[in-house]
Amino acid sequence: MKRERKLDKMVITSEAQYKEAYKKSVEDPQAFWAGIAENFQWHKKWDRVLSYDWSVPETKWFEGGKLNITENCLDRHLKERGQQTAIIWEPNDPGDDVRKITYAELHEYVCRFANVLKDNGIGKGDRVCIYMPMLIELTVAVLACARVGAIHSVVFAGFSARSLATRINDSQCKMLITADGGFRGTKNIPLKEIADEALDHCPSVENVIIYKNTGQSIEWVSERDHWWHLETRNASPEFTAEVMDAEDPLFILYTSGSTGNPKGMVHSCAGYMVYTTYTFKNVFQYKDGDIYWCTADIGWITGHSYIIYGPLAAGATTLMFEGIPSYPDNGRFWEVCAKHKVTHFYTAPTAIRALEKHPVSLVEKHDLSGLKVLGSVGEPINREAWMWYSKHIGKDKCPVVDTWWQTETGGILISSLAGVTRQKATFATLPMPGIQAILLDNEGKELKSDTAEGTLAIKYPWPSIARTIYGDHDRYKKVYFSAFKDHYFPGDGALKDEEGNYRITGRVDDVVIVSGHNLGTAPIENAINEHEMVVESAVVGYPHPIKGNALYAYVITYSNTEEANQKLEDEIKGLVARTIGAIAKPEEIQFVPGLPKTRSGKIMRRILRKVASGECENLGDTSTLLNPDIVNEIISGKVNTN
Ligand code: WTA
Repeated sequence: MKRERKLDKMVITSEAQYKEAYKKSVEDPQAFWAGIAENFQWHKKWDRVLSYDWSVPETKWFEGGKLNITENCLDRHLKERGQQTAIIWEPNDPGDDVRKITYAELHEYVCRFANVLKDNGIGKGDRVCIYMPMLIELTVAVLACARVGAIHSVVFAGFSARSLATRINDSQCKMLITADGGFRGTKNIPLKEIADEALDHCPSVENVIIYKNTGQSIEWVSERDHWWHLETRNASPEFTAEVMDAEDPLFILYTSGSTGNPKGMVHSCAGYMVYTTYTFKNVFQYKDGDIYWCTADIGWITGHSYIIYGPLAAGATTLMFEGIPSYPDNGRFWEVCAKHKVTHFYTAPTAIRALEKHPVSLVEKHDLSGLKVLGSVGEPINREAWMWYSKHIGKDKCPVVDTWWQTETGGILISSLAGVTRQKATFATLPMPGIQAILLDNEGKELKSDTAEGTLAIKYPWPSIARTIYGDHDRYKKVYFSAFKDHYFPGDGALKDEEGNYRITGRVDDVVIVSGHNLGTAPIENAINEHEMVVESAVVGYPHPIKGNALYAYVITYSNTEEANQKLEDEIKGLVARTIGAIAKPEEIQFVPGLPKTRSGKIMRRILRKVASGECENLGDTSTLLNPDIVNEIISGKVNTN
């Protein structure tokens, strides 16, 4: 019992305690985080809690500490919770069997697979790419990598062969773990086929392990390809976890940037573990016996931190869902909540907006009385969606936590604590203990007045900040630490009310959040420009009632006929889907004779954004344009987005 109580010691249970914890975390951050870190299992405690220099930039937490995160997620629970369900797996098709796996079984499965990794030459520091559907085996693969000390790089299974290859090559992965295919709604995604196409361009990959999921026929490359079930069959169920340094990398996860290739954010072992567990327990106020469901895909950070690591380190029961919210009907989420008596439900505003459009009877026919806490993540939640969520799903009795954070931050930075601190519709509310958030004006001066609107920045390290961009520390410095000296720059705008609550207003760079997915506009433009008939293109975001934002592409082509352009439109969308993934397809394409440019040749995106949003009257100063006439031509040909 002793160890379990240890984790509960970090839980804040009143507003006064939150204030006290916050105060301590700012006045003496090192003592504060040392106190939290005490509650975990270490092979050796740290020598130093924190050292950092954001002019380098460099951040180190719990240096000298030795641990393995999987011992905290699995081994430490065996005595008290070995027979407790660790993961409930709900299939895509409600007629298929549910799978449940206890902590003891998960421990054994992870150990078996860790042996498979080792037998295939994977060891500490090797990079392993995981391209899998939402199966228990995805979690097993992730944890097995962590157990052997390999660095996992999960790539969302909706990405194209090109995107997969780029990510594999960027971090020189030695192995790929995939499945024959994956079910999503009525679709069957041929993952192995896509992987084969990618691997033609990935010389670093020596071995591929394939989990048999759909049973579809696949091509086989002997020597390179191995079946998961054959490899694991005779593997030993015991594996001594590799002892890792606190600052050893745990994983790489790619996120879009405003320019160029995706950024491989690198997270390290100890700080990430401490912070995700701390925030999981406090934000969600998860109690023994609760059933927690985060609907994200493990291909994104939300899945890493709040399906796998945070909940498992906290000894929770976490639900993984293979399918999508609209299959077989738009009541699927609520059916799953009722079926498994879900107590904690964590999803994205896009899903809420899509589902609120359907008859509320789809909600009401399911028993949601088990729900205690609702969460939102990934993009700003509008008032209407917040109200609908709170009323129809939470029956006005469940707190709603709006959690603001990023791939780069590893865990939730701003959120209310469910039922403990105050909530306010559309506001993420207050920073977590340890998070020194501030607002800056354009010159980088802190806005100190009670209410303010500006650019969000964080002025002190927290344990789970990404340590670098894999292979490109200069870019890390440039993107996150150069906008404002000695501050972490998340790239979001925010406003603050008189009580200090933050509301995130959206990106301040060229990243567009479409249905909760970050998409840099530059890579999409590059994909479009690959079409031989395209001269140049510019992609911007505009508000969309369900997706939050959608993409609007302005394209200059060599052809001028409407007929040719119609065909081109389909080809361009197909090209983007193949190059990046279906999520990056522009909603609208407008063929234009030119793009508004400054005298230095820079595209004036501000104008394009306004036109796409239908705000054609108030375009601001266009006098600095090289070609001001083009603006009216663009407006007259605008695609109707309302
Ligand atoms: C946006 C997802 C408003 C924000 C965890 C951020 C949000 C980007 C919220 C990171 C929220 C995330 N309210 N905006 N609660 N949560 N965002 O890396 O713009 O996929 O910078 O991490 O999503 O997206 P990412």
